[in-house]
Amino acid sequence: MTRRKFLQNSTMGSMLAFFAVSNLNAAVLGSRKSLLGFEEIGASSADEVIVPKGYESKILLSWGDPLFSKAYKYDESKKIDERAVENAKLCFGDNTDGMSFFELDSKRAILAVNNEYINPELMFTHQGKKLSKNDVLYEQANVGVSIFEIEKEGEFYSVVLDSKFNRRIDANTKMKVSGAAKNEVLAGENFVYGTLNNCANGKTPWGTYLSCEENVDDFFGSSDENFVFDESLKRYGFGVKSVYGWEKFDKRFDLSKNKQEANKFGWVVEIDPFNAKSIPVKRTALGRFKHENAEFVLEKDGTVVVYMGDDEADEFIYKFVSKHKYKKGANTDKILDEGILYVGQFNGKIGDFRGSGKWIALEYGKNGLDEKNGFKSQADVLINARFAGTVVGATPMDRCEWIASHKESAQKEVFATLTNNKSRKEPNAANPRVKNVYGQIIKWWHKNSHKEDEFSWELFVLAGNPSQKGLNKGTNNITDKNKFNSPDGLCFDKDGRLWIQTDGNYSNKGEFSDMGNNCMLAADTRSGEIKRFLSGPVACEITGIAFSPDYKLMFVGIQHPGEFLKPSTFPYGQTPRSSIVMIRKKDGGIIGT
Ligand code: FEO
Ligand code: CA
Ligand code: CA
Ligand code: CA
Repeated sequence: MTRRKFLQNSTMGSMLAFFAVSNLNAAVLGSRKSLLGFEEIGASSADEVIVPKGYESKILLSWGDPLFSKAYKYDESKKIDERAVENAKLCFGDNTDGMSFFELDSKRAILAVNNEYINPELMFTHQGKKLSKNDVLYEQANVGVSIFEIEKEGEFYSVVLDSKFNRRIDANTKMKVSGAAKNEVLAGENFVYGTLNNCANGKTPWGTYLSCEENVDDFFGSSDENFVFDESLKRYGFGVKSVYGWEKFDKRFDLSKNKQEANKFGWVVEIDPFNAKSIPVKRTALGRFKHENAEFVLEKDGTVVVYMGDDEADEFIYKFVSKHKYKKGANTDKILDEGILYVGQFNGKIGDFRGSGKWIALEYGKNGLDEKNGFKSQADVLINARFAGTVVGATPMDRCEWIASHKESAQKEVFATLTNNKSRKEPNAANPRVKNVYGQIIKWWHKNSHKEDEFSWELFVLAGNPSQKGLNKGTNNITDKNKFNSPDGLCFDKDGRLWIQTDGNYSNKGEFSDMGNNCMLAADTRSGEIKRFLSGPVACEITGIAFSPDYKLMFVGIQHPGEFLKPSTFPYGQTPRSSIVMIRKKDGGIIGT
């Protein structure tokens, strides 16, 4: 009996039965070799990167490291003047996040990496408390995207300074806008400027990089305390006070003076990493929300499907299906501009931990997306995708982070992290816990094609702590050894190992006892087995993952070690700095085997 058949035939109404699923799987799959050949590591609160026995890691680069030879190296005195601002434009940005590897030849590649945000408490001697105009310009130069060439050096790679591919894209870089909301977003201008809060990523088969804008509201404020925030601004998180204070020095980020600027952010940005002079394009057909990643699936007939999560409590999961088909060598410029954006509805009974689902089209004029509900055009629907999702009955999720499709599996399963939702009051079938502090990973699949409107879903794991009660124990593939909270980064390798990165509570206390620092785990999705593979330094998030094409070298992002002035000096014993580490198996084997 296949696992699917088994699940269909069984009556799994109770939590107890759900907890038995992995055990039964283990019995069914007992003779099959685990995909996870490495010796799992324990939780750790040490200020270092720990990898399993037989593996080694090395830093590729850290925030502030030069991409060009005329730049000076990271200045520990943190002197921020005009020279420092210009220098930042030639260096790796802050808060490394999603990244993609683009092969040039067997020894060289381009790495495109998001620089999500900044940590003023680490960036400045005043810890962000006495911000100046130069400080804001310095921050603006430290966010966005870094693109650079890397070259094999021994068993690892190193950065190629001054490569023709090296470039920084930041909060002021000129960008095009395309898709149905183009004119409304441009608001009479020819271009928009900058990309912000570039969280996770995607990679197209035509060799471009997708950089996804997430918490863009953090960068906007209002100098006028009485400025009226309309429903759209409120739903997207904008308020009088920004997190970073840019509005005090740059009126572009002052909503009382430039309200239309808010609509220029919250998009997926397509970048050609092979041409440093290319102008990035904001693809509005993919919708405006707090994007996490853009998981790309190519159907046999050339149709492009992109799965995307909105990382906000009780927001939604989306799917874009292209109208135009991808054909190798043909023009690809319209593929991400024309198509249908869908939103997910996850149905089922609370306690079943599985159910059915529907993708509902967000098309102007259909499903109530019309004047009666305040929509005047498709542009309106895309700019206010969250409202559209509510109108059509999308399911409020526990903060969807990364989505990963298992391209080699027979069922073509898609997995998504729902990181946590501490404010959830009403449970639903796919999000069964109120005040969800641990998070879960959900999977869904269609009968034959990602284009179908109907799907089935099931929870793969409820993260938790076996020391707690009820559902907070987690599913029975959570053990005292592998326990973790807040799954976030997610990616399959070519063998079908599911890599899980965490961005959670690293206090190691109470409900998070013995979970240690943020970490990376690997799962065998057929058996449910999960093992911890890497532990990060103090107060970091592990986010961003890429592999060399032979899967023998892995790139992992160590984001903001020492955030909130927690005691970290990773990586060089001084100011803690976000870094990319490379990991290899000492015997030269495939990572994870
Ligand atoms: Fe940038 Fe939702 O993480
Ligand atoms: Ca994330
Ligand atoms: Ca997160
Ligand atoms: Ca973070």
